[in-house]
Amino acid sequence: MCGIMGYVGSADATPIIMDGLRRLEYRGYDSAGVAVNDHGINVRKAEGKIDQLAALLEDEPLTGTIGIGHTRWATHGRPSDLNAHPHTDASGEFVVVHNGIIENFQTLREELQASGVELTSETDTELLAHLVAAEYDGNLAAAVRAAVDRAEGAYALVVMSDREPRTIIAVRKISPLVVGLGEGETFLASDIPAVLHRTRDFLIIEDDELVTITAEGAIIETIEGDPVEREVMHIDWDAQQAEKGGYEHFMLKEIYEQPAVITETLAGRLDEDGTVWLEDVKFNDDFVRDLGTIWITACGTAYHAGLVGTQIFQRLLRLPTMVEYAHEMRYADPLVKSGDLTVAISQSGETADTLAAARLAGGLGTRLLALTNVVGSTLSRDADDILYTRAGPEISVGSTKAYLAMLVGQYLLALKLGAVTGAIDADRAAQIAQGLKRLPAQVETILEETDDIAAAAAMLADADDVYFIGRGLDYAVAMEGSLKLKEISYLHSEAMPAGELKHGTLALVTKGVPIVVVITQRSVYDKTISAVQEVKARGAEVIAVAYDTDTEIGKFADIVLRIPETEDLLAPVNAVVPLQLLAYHVARLRGLDIDQPRNLAKSVTVE
Ligand code: AGP
Repeated sequence: MCGIMGYVGSADATPIIMDGLRRLEYRGYDSAGVAVNDHGINVRKAEGKIDQLAALLEDEPLTGTIGIGHTRWATHGRPSDLNAHPHTDASGEFVVVHNGIIENFQTLREELQASGVELTSETDTELLAHLVAAEYDGNLAAAVRAAVDRAEGAYALVVMSDREPRTIIAVRKISPLVVGLGEGETFLASDIPAVLHRTRDFLIIEDDELVTITAEGAIIETIEGDPVEREVMHIDWDAQQAEKGGYEHFMLKEIYEQPAVITETLAGRLDEDGTVWLEDVKFNDDFVRDLGTIWITACGTAYHAGLVGTQIFQRLLRLPTMVEYAHEMRYADPLVKSGDLTVAISQSGETADTLAAARLAGGLGTRLLALTNVVGSTLSRDADDILYTRAGPEISVGSTKAYLAMLVGQYLLALKLGAVTGAIDADRAAQIAQGLKRLPAQVETILEETDDIAAAAAMLADADDVYFIGRGLDYAVAMEGSLKLKEISYLHSEAMPAGELKHGTLALVTKGVPIVVVITQRSVYDKTISAVQEVKARGAEVIAVAYDTDTEIGKFADIVLRIPETEDLLAPVNAVVPLQLLAYHVARLRGLDIDQPRNLAKSVTVE
């Protein structure tokens, strides 16, 4: 999704902004631009990657100590030089960058055109530049207020003007925005990693707030103009965590970080006897004893984590648990009610549909728990309770370590709830705790043995279609394995419960069609083996993910990706790892842009 960067201070703004934009590349974008006050507002922008913009800046440099920049992911208007941000008004004195969508775009466009404004792009953003200029009467903040008063939708808007040449004004409504505080310089960004190497002190801008940024710092007000006191948030992340650290791709680095991530997610939260402390989960025992339904809502990989979570909660707590895609739940008139718990899962904490579904559920009276990776994210601020996954910044668009941390977070939550309801007795809690504590070492062993994964990747690299199957928790893992493969390797891939095969998809299984089977769940093992026999009988090539103790599967599968044995409830954590590596190696063999797959964005902050 779009990235925003801004700078005001005494240093040369252009390289600082360009560096920040590069650090936001992981969000996905199709054009980029900068505006610097270099004896007046000057803009350079280009379709394509940041390197194209850098080349343009080499030919036509910009020098100044205040500027804004943007990476755009097209919503209104195709990717092009003209549609790239920043956008200026007709005089060129007012310049804006913007994330999000202006919903009354058409009305505003017609109004502006009727008043004689000539529009040069197809974007909704350009309208904002004209609106600010039209409203300007000696006070930039007031002009921005008046402009956004006319705009409906979700956005983060950043405005700079030659009329007030040492000030940047920004407004937030839903799309994220942070201010980084330096010594005699101030940064603005859509995301903390953009400037984490320059400062560790941040102000998080909330919805419906306006911030005035100068080299001396930032003043936050509500959009109505009331002063806002905001505590400075000190971020402890290691800046190295946001770098590739020797790996060819962020995705591979993030896969290899997973043992440490599990350790980190569990750290200080789980005793050997299964007692759990979750620092920001505040609900009381009465709430838990009377708990009705657990609702899980999320999108994409986070939804797949929720599929695992549903089974964990149902099995361990014997409580009704529903998992819903957020983009479905928000329009489905769900039967959510007071006394229920909604668990909204989101790596970024900024996914628009997840935020909307979570807010809907909160409005219907449920308690809202955010399971998220991003401290200070919108979801975390909306929630009553927060369980941070502590996976560290995830750069690759294909989510890996955040997923694993989401699973671990849900085991912890189940243990916490089960201790209160009595559904998990002391022995069982201790057993699960010990199993969880063994996971980092077990994942480590999977990461060491990758020969079979390489062979499996070679089998899939030239395939047209791949099918993933499994039952119960294995089905949930198969869903994630399939998504990972399709999003980074562009291979058509589908996952389904193994029992569903013969209800239609079996018609597509012919000689040489690859089938990936996840087979860990002992209670349905024989059933899954039957499905494997069915596809083998039709000439399919089978890759299996199975326990290292399984002596049966080798008789049927062509390649077996072994994982250390655990109790079945914990198997998803280990089982997904070979599938992540499989997707990675297939995409690598196909020579693709692994960290930034086409058409996808890291954080989907629009509907
Ligand atoms: C997964 O690899 C994708 N990047 C995508 O499905 C992602 O999980 C989804 O967009 C949800 O993102 P979130 O966790 O930040 O809400």
